[in-house]
Amino acid sequence: MEKVSFTRMDEGTPEEYAFLHKGEVEFTKGLPDRIIGALINLDNTLSGYRITRLQHSLQSATRAEEDGADKELIVGALIHDLGDDLAPANHSQLASTIIRPYVREEVTWIISMHGLFQMFYFGPKEYIGNEIGIDKSLRERYKDHKWFSSCDKFCRDWDQMSFDPDYPTKSLDYFKPLVNEIFSRTPFDPKFVGKAEFE
Ligand SMILES: [Fe+2]
Ligand SMILES: [Fe+2]
Repeated sequence: MEKVSFTRMDEGTPEEYAFLHKGEVEFTKGLPDRIIGALINLDNTLSGYRITRLQHSLQSATRAEEDGADKELIVGALIHDLGDDLAPANHSQLASTIIRPYVREEVTWIISMHGLFQMFYFGPKEYIGNEIGIDKSLRERYKDHKWFSSCDKFCRDWDQMSFDPDYPTKSLDYFKPLVNEIFSRTPFDPKFVGKAEFE
């Protein structure tokens, strides 16, 4: 079989669905390469900063690693702005959705919330309530959350710091083995994700 013959899903045969499933399993194996491709695309987003979004992502991951972060957080730092081109209004959530099946819940939460926490670092204090609508205090809503300090650290020490063209940033090639490892995991494996409450 090269293609199914059905034109509507409810008319597919068990053989056709077995055939499609096999193709899906094969396609999923290419996920790490597609993540790398999406990272490369970040080289062409958001002008005006002194470095590209790809360089920012690599620098965030480098700082995380230098700081002793574990693999999941390093890869989280690497992909945290993957949503910038397709989801400019909620880029954090897009990135967290991508990594969610492969890492512990804490990492997913940090990536999902980093956009809101990051507002705290947008410029000097007098920017509060300015005309572009930045509210530095939004993160205070989560001040009692168990992962407040982890997300605070992610934003304070890695994300907001990583706009420096002179920082010794590691290359995308350097991080490829980590990307391969994390995104080749079985999705929603309780061993990594914890209790499977997401599906
Ligand atoms: Fe971001
Ligand atoms: Fe960022």
